[in-house]
Amino acid sequence: MNSQDINNLQNAFQYNVNLGSSPNAVSTSPTQSFMNTLPRRLSLSKQQKVLKPFSTGDIKILLLENVNQTAIANFKEQGYQVDFHKGSLPEDELIEKIKDVHAIGIRSKTKLTEKVLKHAKNLVVIGCFCIGTNQVDLEYAAKRGIAVFNSPFSNSRSVAELVIAEIISLARQVGDRSIELHTGTWNKVSNRCWEVRGKTLGIIGYGHIGSQLSVLAEAMGLHVIYYDIVTIMALGTAKQVPTLDELLSRSDFVSLHVPETPETKNMISAPQFASMKDGAYLINASRGTVVDIPSLIMAMKAKKIAGAALDVYPSEPGKNGAGLFADSLNSWTSDLVSLPNVILTPHIGGSTEEAQSAIGVEVSHALSKYINEGASVGAVNFPEVSLKALDYDQENTVRVLYIHKNVPGVLKTVNNILSDHNIEKQYSDSRGDIAYLMADISSVNQSDIKDIYEQLNNTEAKISIRLLY
Ligand SMILES: NC(=O)c1ccc[n+]([C@@H]2O[C@H](COP(=O)([O-])OP(=O)(O)OC[C@H]3O[C@@H](n4cnc5c(N)ncnc54)[C@H](O)[C@@H]3O)[C@@H](O)[C@H]2O)c1
Repeated sequence: MNSQDINNLQNAFQYNVNLGSSPNAVSTSPTQSFMNTLPRRLSLSKQQKVLKPFSTGDIKILLLENVNQTAIANFKEQGYQVDFHKGSLPEDELIEKIKDVHAIGIRSKTKLTEKVLKHAKNLVVIGCFCIGTNQVDLEYAAKRGIAVFNSPFSNSRSVAELVIAEIISLARQVGDRSIELHTGTWNKVSNRCWEVRGKTLGIIGYGHIGSQLSVLAEAMGLHVIYYDIVTIMALGTAKQVPTLDELLSRSDFVSLHVPETPETKNMISAPQFASMKDGAYLINASRGTVVDIPSLIMAMKAKKIAGAALDVYPSEPGKNGAGLFADSLNSWTSDLVSLPNVILTPHIGGSTEEAQSAIGVEVSHALSKYINEGASVGAVNFPEVSLKALDYDQENTVRVLYIHKNVPGVLKTVNNILSDHNIEKQYSDSRGDIAYLMADISSVNQSDIKDIYEQLNNTEAKISIRLLY
């Protein structure tokens, strides 16, 4: 390739960068799209190992809803253009802005519906800088070859710490004493107030949060038992028990850390309260559907349960404000709030500065890795595929990223196209209607690349192609 060729390629980039070539999104011809995938890194030093088939300065990222500064720092380090906004955008403005960005970072307020995503012609990836992803039309995004990432576990520690605080607060009736004193009542009592040392904590769901809680609780002298549908190695001296009933009958404190599934709906209801020890405590910072609240109210009124801490509810307000936590939201609210020794928090288990910062790091790294290397591990709507980074000493090696419809015969077609070259590594996976193939092929020259691209682009099942090298 001579210097004129290189100039031409660079010019093509400057005017029409497009990372993806999803059928609905790209109006360029296959050759133009191919040109878009060609590198400017021809002039880069040999040591640079990250795969970038583009000048990183051309990559545009729209960040909304005040996503954490750690994310901005990471994207800027990558050299991407960052358009940062503190709030969400009205739909018409969002549609205008999303038209030419390659990535977007949002939290829970921005709705990325089919209507909005239809306009996202260059979008390759969406980052939800939060836990939930139901603000995004995941299926439509996948159909368009747009991967969606979130950060489900960055706040595990924050939740575990809140639960520790609640265990002690319930045992010492701290909430009630505080409310009394706020209204001028001095009520110094020790009756039915306990130390937690030597008591038994039963953890239901020993995943990211449950297992963290286990470690913290043991440090305070609690005995820990746990129940989980899978067999999980215990941390410290915790012990897994075979049935939920055994856990309930042995625990002084029961804390729930299961996901929301059909099996966990109302998993703690009247029969489970009956199985619990007299004077036990219940903590739920998992999902609101897991505990049947009317049964909890009855168990507390009957003095079977000595206290409860709830952070999550079957229905939760969509915004902050006074008067929102009311019977109109959940019919039992006034009954619940009138009970003694019940700590109610507005779904703040994961809401700490540290968790926000960790979310910023985790999601921005996932996005950069997907843009730069094609790795989709952790994507919520997409097959999870990864290959180790290409070695820069491997001259003439190209990474093919081929997102396609999950229909029979595609791999045969693709492998026919790639078969003239040496396939160093190949990994493919599918999820629903979408499949994703990553392949590293060696002994490829510039004209081969063009040829491979055009052949792949003409395959019927193609959704989107990127070539990295
Ligand atoms: N309050 C908050 O702010 C907050 C923050 C983060 C997470 N959460 C919630 O906490 C819960 C736990 O989160 P995590 O990150 O630890 O999840 P996780 O996926 O790491 O762990 C969940 C565990 O529950 C187990 N499990 C699933 N179904 C079960 C069942 N029927 N019976 C017993 N065990 C079962 C799983 O095997 C797994 O070990 C989730 O519901 C999550 O949404 C709440």
